[in-house]
Amino acid sequence: MTDSVPFGFTLVAQDGTARTGEIATARGTIRTPAFMPVGTAATVKAMYPEQVRDLGADVVLGNTYHLMLRPGAERMARLGGLHRFMNWDRPILTDSGGFQVMSLSALRKIDEQGVTFRSHIDGTAHHMSPERSIEIQGLLGSDIQMQLDECVRLPAEHGAIEKAMHLSLRWAERCRIAFGEQPGRAMFGIVQGGDVPALRIESARSLTDLDLKGYAVGGLAVGEPQAVMFAMIETVEPHLPQAKPRYLMGVGTPDDILGAVARGIDMFDCVMPTRAGRHGLAYTRHGRINLRNARHAEDTAPLDDASTCPAARDYSRAYLHHLVRSNEILGMMLLTWNNLAYYQDLMAGARAAIRDGRYGDYCSATREGWARAER
Ligand code: GUN
Repeated sequence: MTDSVPFGFTLVAQDGTARTGEIATARGTIRTPAFMPVGTAATVKAMYPEQVRDLGADVVLGNTYHLMLRPGAERMARLGGLHRFMNWDRPILTDSGGFQVMSLSALRKIDEQGVTFRSHIDGTAHHMSPERSIEIQGLLGSDIQMQLDECVRLPAEHGAIEKAMHLSLRWAERCRIAFGEQPGRAMFGIVQGGDVPALRIESARSLTDLDLKGYAVGGLAVGEPQAVMFAMIETVEPHLPQAKPRYLMGVGTPDDILGAVARGIDMFDCVMPTRAGRHGLAYTRHGRINLRNARHAEDTAPLDDASTCPAARDYSRAYLHHLVRSNEILGMMLLTWNNLAYYQDLMAGARAAIRDGRYGDYCSATREGWARAER
């Protein structure tokens, strides 16, 4: 790790609202638009870290909630931090925990002081304040830390959305103070405000006043149609500083990502490619393929013979179908590998297209490929 590299974002090129750039961190550069494979429990499920890196991923995501429960933040620090623990020496972004508490734990409660919850693993009681979330992310050794926030599932009442947004703003201030200044590392704020444009704008402006190192857009892909998600990004984008990275949390399908990049988003994470890979689904240039389907039983074609990924090129669909049907570990490994390769290639293509001023054409050609899908 090079402590001398300050955290920063350089815009390399813009094509309309789409941007390509580089985020500098003490542990290396992140090329944007970037897709961050999800490594919730100190592993990108079914992948070796070396493979993840070879696919071109510059950064992976870890989860405060899971890691604080198991193996525990203080234990992780004693073991030398998350990077050493999982053998990933490049940047790691960690989510703050609030979102996972709300979706995974039992008996959870939110108040001004933070979140109180019971572990989904052993039922033990825990409390996490904004300060403790930042402390845990520091113990893990996270390069990009997220503020603690409250994300409301949609549809929701205006009052509930407003209350969660204001609470998230107050927590952003507390997290900023708790984080202080850490050379080469960053703490990002999270824009909330549900599907209410005025609340989204208030959230983005207030967070911008805090002069954070980057800004996430949260509370999307939580039950609303894609058009609403895109409309919210368009609402928020003009109120975020151009010179800071923007991260759309928990998104999404390849089509969601292309659309969000067009609207000025720089970073993404989603369980979709990894989770789908463990459920027999393959993302390809020709759309999403369900390998469980009987029609692949005698198909000798690979997923994509033009791919640079061995999983896509060197194994027949018939073999993948067999592995998936037999619930073999290798089926999950190959499909996850293929899917992450597809996502990383999609991002590399987007970066090159933006640089060349042909992002619109890139999106049209990519979508045409999916339209020729056999589903
Ligand atoms: N992951 C997906 N959406 C969100 C969100 O709104 N907040 C946080 N902290 N994580 C997320």
